[in-house]
Amino acid sequence: LDNNKSKDELLLNICELLEANIEYYNWVGFYFKNGDKNELKLGPYVGEPTDHTIIPFGKGICGQVAVSNENFVVPDVAAQDNYIACSITVKAEIVIPIFVNGENVGQIDIDSNTPDPFTEEDERFLEFVCAKVAKII
Ligand code: SME
Repeated sequence: LDNNKSKDELLLNICELLEANIEYYNWVGFYFKNGDKNELKLGPYVGEPTDHTIIPFGKGICGQVAVSNENFVVPDVAAQDNYIACSITVKAEIVIPIFVNGENVGQIDIDSNTPDPFTEEDERFLEFVCAKVAKII
């Protein structure tokens, strides 16, 4: 791909497909490491607009995944101390890192309005999605 617009369109299409086809995926978006800064920047997403377009490494579920390089499944967001609330309707969250040549470059972030909806099947499926995303970014 030779321009950022088409990459963002593809990423947005992925968000749209996921949100439209999996009923408990209610907000679907990408965050990417922002250059050399120790922060994440919001990429394409579908769902309610969020104020959290920049997230420092370590902050919230997303910021923690930026430093842990590991999946983070949150069955109940109310039970998390280090959590950034985007909407009061959100009950659960899953964040899966995206690796390019072994480097954690960003993540897919999914919020659910259903309590405790995410299974290992979601993790495996979203790891697969992230591996495909890694090839187009
Ligand atoms: N809840 C996330 C912030 C991003 S919003 O869900 C879109 C977090 O705690 O990192």
